[in-house]
Amino acid sequence: MNFKEVMALAKRRGIFQPAYEPYGGVAGLLDYGPVGVRMRRKILALWRRQFVIETDALELEGATIGPEALFRASGHLSEFDDLLVECNECKKLHRADHLVEGGDALEKEALIAEVVRVTCGGCGGALGTPRPFNLMFATSIGAGRGSTGYLRPETAQGIFQAFPWLLRQNRGKLPLVAAQIGRAFRNEIAPRQGPLRLREFTQMEVEHFFLPDAESSLPDGVGNVVVSLLPANGKGVEISISEAHAKGVIISPLVATWLARCCKFILDCGVPPEKLRFRQHNQNEMAHYSSDCWDGEVKTSVGWIEVVGIAHRGDYDLKAHAVASGREMRVPAGGGSRLVERWIPNKGAIGKQFKSAAGDVLGQLDSSAVPGIVVGVGGKKIELDEECFTLETTTVQEMVFPQIVEPSFGLDRLLYVVLETAWRNKDERGWLALPKVVGPYDALVAPLMVKDGMGERAKEIHRELRQKGMDVYLDLAGSIGRRYARADEIGVPRAITIDHRTLEDGTVTVRERDLTEQKRASIEDLQ
Ligand code: GLY
Repeated sequence: MNFKEVMALAKRRGIFQPAYEPYGGVAGLLDYGPVGVRMRRKILALWRRQFVIETDALELEGATIGPEALFRASGHLSEFDDLLVECNECKKLHRADHLVEGGDALEKEALIAEVVRVTCGGCGGALGTPRPFNLMFATSIGAGRGSTGYLRPETAQGIFQAFPWLLRQNRGKLPLVAAQIGRAFRNEIAPRQGPLRLREFTQMEVEHFFLPDAESSLPDGVGNVVVSLLPANGKGVEISISEAHAKGVIISPLVATWLARCCKFILDCGVPPEKLRFRQHNQNEMAHYSSDCWDGEVKTSVGWIEVVGIAHRGDYDLKAHAVASGREMRVPAGGGSRLVERWIPNKGAIGKQFKSAAGDVLGQLDSSAVPGIVVGVGGKKIELDEECFTLETTTVQEMVFPQIVEPSFGLDRLLYVVLETAWRNKDERGWLALPKVVGPYDALVAPLMVKDGMGERAKEIHRELRQKGMDVYLDLAGSIGRRYARADEIGVPRAITIDHRTLEDGTVTVRERDLTEQKRASIEDLQ
């Protein structure tokens, strides 16, 4: 299925459509419908199981609006922009990197130099000078002039500013894995690809905080995971995580660990392994906060689509928020405390030795003074011996900023690639071969016909199965073939059909989605 067909399916089957349709729609904003919401909730539930519950993460649900100071500190005010170019003739606005082949891989200066050579794609007119356009949505907090605020461009900053609080909830201990699901907002210049470039989207982010020297080895269970890697300066390889780490393809063990977890999760969502790769960012592409980044990308009809970024953010964010807020964002270093010896001038001994000149002598001693220092007294040079000092021993707790590794998923893109890659066609039939964990329902309940009591019996069976905890829906409308077709198109794995025999012996037919095989089963066995 190609992009256009996914969009048509999504609209037809209540998965998603452009938001504010009666008003002509707003580019970059989507409404999710009854089926889409169910699919999203299933993906979220799987993510929460693998990234929150199985990692003992502390979950946060932070505010979506942040004060200007937060985004000044994070670097988003000064760095989070795209280059915008206006056509001098038709006034159309373009994203500079879309005007030039391979533009997204160019440094800002190189991109500006290239853009000078091209003309407007719309009218052929001359283009103006590229200028930075900040991607954050600004708003005003409070009445009157209020204060400037921004809709968060990533959920991550909410976790970073809450780090001291989260650390206390974790009894002051590292490592600490924090997680957050929530909306993020980016005022994209050219949001033209449905769910692939949205102005409002859902992120599923983990921030893994750890001590700088605590990244020594891979945890159990991830080393054997085989991934397809495309390093920044190399050729693509199929490689196990342990080998990728041992050979230095992925330097950070924690980046390697989260990459393995992300790989498993994306495959569990139904993406075929041959369509998934992890591509390392080259230096130009890296966000202002990261020192290494791998994007999990899925091959689709519109090219490779990033669904997750796994970034090593180092101590960039906590340092920035500590400086800007004045709050302690450091933790005791792994080695614990150490003893420090310091010489302190002994006022009593100096007073005894120098009498009325003692004040003058003390005035010449700063915190670096140690025995052997020479002072001037009454025109003479005198060396102070150990008698004039006391050796003080104090315990110093060394403090360090934790490091951070972040796997950050975009839910909307993930749902898109799941839909596109799960589509199957045979003869006249098309269906979504979704794994059960991300499918919108467990089963369809449908009478062969509504007449002769079959409709009533179907309603009863539907109610009974729901009471037993099954996520089933009832469809009474149209021919049974149409109802199967509609269920196939949204990836429902089973259809339970109530027919004449059901009324006689309490059995139903169970139709399996992918092979369309039908079996007879008793109602008691359905669950
Ligand atoms: N937190 C990473 C991102 O939003 O891209």
